[in-house]
Amino acid sequence: MTNLLYINASPRGDLSAANQAASIFTDALADSVQVNRLNLFEAKLPEITLEVTAAKMKFAMGLELSEEEARQWTVITNLVSQFVEADGYLFSIPMWNFSIPYKLKQYIDLVTHPGLTFTSDENGPKGIASGPATLIYARGGDYSPKDGRPDPFDFQSPYMNAWTRLVGLEPISEVLVQKTMAGPDALSKTIEAQKNHLTALARGMG
Ligand SMILES: Cc1cc2nc3c(=O)[nH]c(=O)nc-3n(C[C@H](O)[C@H](O)[C@H](O)COP(=O)(O)O)c2cc1C
Repeated sequence: MTNLLYINASPRGDLSAANQAASIFTDALADSVQVNRLNLFEAKLPEITLEVTAAKMKFAMGLELSEEEARQWTVITNLVSQFVEADGYLFSIPMWNFSIPYKLKQYIDLVTHPGLTFTSDENGPKGIASGPATLIYARGGDYSPKDGRPDPFDFQSPYMNAWTRLVGLEPISEVLVQKTMAGPDALSKTIEAQKNHLTALARGMG
């Protein structure tokens, strides 16, 4: 059984363009793939407090945590376990102000820790998580690369690429769902245009 972690970073449910594209992916998965859904806007993610930051530093330095630090750190390490134990990943990611929604950034800050999600040596960082990741980016506008150059306003793709590689996800497949605010016909068209790509990526999950 393959375990897919589907991280949904849109609060818009079925109205979400990224989630509509993600449904094409999940519908095409083999029966042997188990989908674990994490809705970041419903999940009541913990805050990163003074105790959490202290625990993170103490954990990295091998120091003993206070009782309260240990209690809060356990909540974090449970989230990390759910993340690193997945065999594959699907993200639905709206573009918000050229970047990712704050709940996804909060999740990234919660699960990314040296010794838990990545290690480092003289060759640089090495991820502890593994497995393929499909990143669906939904955007009101069009931020496709132009003339072989990345769009300078696209802070979604470069950031997600850097982070997914840091934690070890590979290969990364990016699916662009763009011009989502140009009306219902344009929305269906942009999602439909990615159907074959999404289906092929889902079948590749085994
Ligand atoms: C808070 C917020 C900020 C947004 N910022 C941008 C933006 O910078 N560029 C853009 O093209 N669209 C922007 N949009 C539009 C969304 O990217 C677009 O509606 C997209 O379809 C959202 O993904 P979803 O449909 O999966 O929720 C923004 C929407 C919201 C709610």
